[in-house]
Amino acid sequence: MKNLITITDLSVEELEDLIHTAIDIIQNPDKYAESCKRKKLATLFFEPSTRTRLSFEAAMYELGGSVLGFSEAASSSTAKGESVADTARTVGCYADIIAMRHPKEGAPYVAARTAGVPVINAGDGGHNHPTQTLADILTIYREKKRLSNMTIGVCGDLKFGRTVHSLIAAMSRYNGIHFVMISPEELRTPRYVISDILDKTNTRYEETTSLEDAMPKLDILYMTRVQRERFFNEADYLRLKDTYILTPDKLKHAKETLSILHPLPRVNEIAVAVDDDPRACYFKQVLNGKFMRMALILKLLEVKVW
Ligand code: NCD
Repeated sequence: MKNLITITDLSVEELEDLIHTAIDIIQNPDKYAESCKRKKLATLFFEPSTRTRLSFEAAMYELGGSVLGFSEAASSSTAKGESVADTARTVGCYADIIAMRHPKEGAPYVAARTAGVPVINAGDGGHNHPTQTLADILTIYREKKRLSNMTIGVCGDLKFGRTVHSLIAAMSRYNGIHFVMISPEELRTPRYVISDILDKTNTRYEETTSLEDAMPKLDILYMTRVQRERFFNEADYLRLKDTYILTPDKLKHAKETLSILHPLPRVNEIAVAVDDDPRACYFKQVLNGKFMRMALILKLLEVKVW
């Protein structure tokens, strides 16, 4: 049985199969409308979410399946002291597949050991967020028609931003990828991402504090919010939160072919005026996330659609 705990649980070939399935779903939605009939997805969300939880739910409904679950820890038996392992084992008796978001790094991994059904990591603390990466990668592929040979700027909270960690792990497997990691000193990419992923795959990268300097060379700009909920004190958050604000003015020095991504929610990092720029892809990314989650559910449930 397969789980999706980190993005590298999927090989490059499996990831590309998911892209092709997602594109087929976009082109032939009717073919998939009953493919998960009588299957149930449980969404166990111990942390706030709009896109991830609702897109999982929409994905399962569009496959003809149904959904159960909770959207905050307070309404589950966690509030009574139940362990993640016991919650997962229980839910595995009701559902065919589980998507779990949790503030503790590694919680979905623990859940996968007892659930008895496939578990998908829908975000674990400041660690990983593999299904956001599925959305990101389909967006990059649809915009650029390739996944290799490009310069990707990741900007903002690279320390706590789990989406960035998963994106780096996925994209560093392709040829000719160059990362420009733009962050304040305090929010630099964790050492383990550099040594375990970038160095091991010989991926080119540079670190800078200046979005303006990086801008002209970027093919992709991946903006992120400063992750308030992971800070130890509010004063540091307030000092760092508006370090980078993308405005139409700053985009004057960007390539015409730039694609601007953001996992959302945005707080202040992208001015609303940028939304009308044809290079803004972050709402397309939302839609792509649903199609990739549909493809992932089919794969993990081993449902074949002809
Ligand atoms: C991200 C997350 O939860 O990590 N959001 C999402 O799932 N689209 C990014 C964020 O919260 O900043």
